[in-house]
Amino acid sequence: MRGANLIGGQWIEPADGACLCVHDAATGEIITRVPAIGSAGAKAAVEAAVHALPSWAETRLADRADLLRRCAHRLREQRTRLADIITAEVGKPLAESLGEVDYSADYFDSAADETPRLTTQALPNRRHDRAQWVQPEPIGVVAAVTPWNFPLAMLARKTAPALAAGCTQVAKPAEETPLSAIALAEILMEVGLTKGVINVITGAPEAIVNAWLEDGRVRKLSFTGSTEVGRLLMRGAASNVVRLSLELGGHAPFLVFADADIGVSVDAAILGKFRVAGQTCICPNRFIVHASVADEFAQRLTVAAQALPVGVGRTPGVRLGPLISDEAVARVQAQVDDAVAHGGRVLTGGRTVHVPDCVDRFFAPTVIAGATPSMRCFQEETFGPLAPIASAEDDEAMIRLANATPFGLAGYAFSADASRVAWAAKRLQCGIVGCNTTTVSDAYAPFGGRGWSGFGREGGRWGVDEYISWKYVCEAHSDRTTPR
Ligand code: SIN
Repeated sequence: MRGANLIGGQWIEPADGACLCVHDAATGEIITRVPAIGSAGAKAAVEAAVHALPSWAETRLADRADLLRRCAHRLREQRTRLADIITAEVGKPLAESLGEVDYSADYFDSAADETPRLTTQALPNRRHDRAQWVQPEPIGVVAAVTPWNFPLAMLARKTAPALAAGCTQVAKPAEETPLSAIALAEILMEVGLTKGVINVITGAPEAIVNAWLEDGRVRKLSFTGSTEVGRLLMRGAASNVVRLSLELGGHAPFLVFADADIGVSVDAAILGKFRVAGQTCICPNRFIVHASVADEFAQRLTVAAQALPVGVGRTPGVRLGPLISDEAVARVQAQVDDAVAHGGRVLTGGRTVHVPDCVDRFFAPTVIAGATPSMRCFQEETFGPLAPIASAEDDEAMIRLANATPFGLAGYAFSADASRVAWAAKRLQCGIVGCNTTTVSDAYAPFGGRGWSGFGREGGRWGVDEYISWKYVCEAHSDRTTPR
């Protein structure tokens, strides 16, 4: 697995003394090393992206689309190799990693599909004395800062639209999981991307990101990560008025109405809650179940959660891998302990599980009944395999509880009545709603939130528009110009 950085088309291998170790998330073994780059390297990456910008921005739309499609094709061709990298550095089950590779390839196809739209558009001439039009222009050099939970897909959803729009990019993957990003950069070079259009560096996050925000030539930063870091980036972006897309934390409610099909709800809860061991921004975090079906839902969810094998992601059949760090384990345990201290009942899980020859970061799928809104698990984002269940007496109370959070990324509603789910979808204050499903991730749909979950959208035409500056041009016909 390659551990080099890419700047201006040159591969930079890690040097002794200035490198970071990348660990296998399950065993803790060192997989490889990557460079530990600071502000000088970050500036070199910007130089390369600035240099490459004029010719990439002038590249024909059809040629950009071809390149994006070649990348999608190559990702699919190499899906097993890439899934192995993802599973090694994140720890997620291989089946989920394969899904992530497909999801990443879809972002390249989706961005390619958008390119025919990126042409000059004439505006109606209301006064007959002028021609006017709107032309799309790339924002310029853009930065991508990506998280560890989807190390390939989160870069794909930032790189593909940026390249479609004609921008050049500097990217910094999470310290824990740089190898998927490096593999994507390698593929882009293999399929013929011009040197300097994408630059991937690894190292100290603060030094790198501050160098980019202070540079003045980086015109946009797209970040997926915590709300806390998102706030810092907003401050940092202010001095150069850098455009931002922020996909931040989530605290998704999962509503089960009285008439819901409990089997469907439980299956969807298992898929959504325990994906990446509960470490996604759109994981259902707060289960709010109508009192008339709360016991049945809790009991069936418990049985289904107990059946999920926990272990090394490479092992066939495993459904939950490790959490990413000791801090992540401590945070989930603290939420469980707090819930128990306040009257919650652990129906299953509630502690770590020992996996031979592995790190002590495997947390059992956990279901807690009797959750209340004042518990930490209802107040703070979890990022772990904990499903706390609260009950409510009526639909209005369920919606009130769902919206009682400053986060607003995803929400889920389960009911056999189409009008009830439509009613709930309208009232949930978030950017993404799953009705009778938690499988909402789609490269052709807009992904993003509101409130503390950030702003900006990724995917489909919405994702590409984030990298476009629309220029309005108005040309008066001098011989016929009449003053207003
Ligand atoms: C996330 O955790 O933010 C990404 C989830 C997804 O795209 O499905």
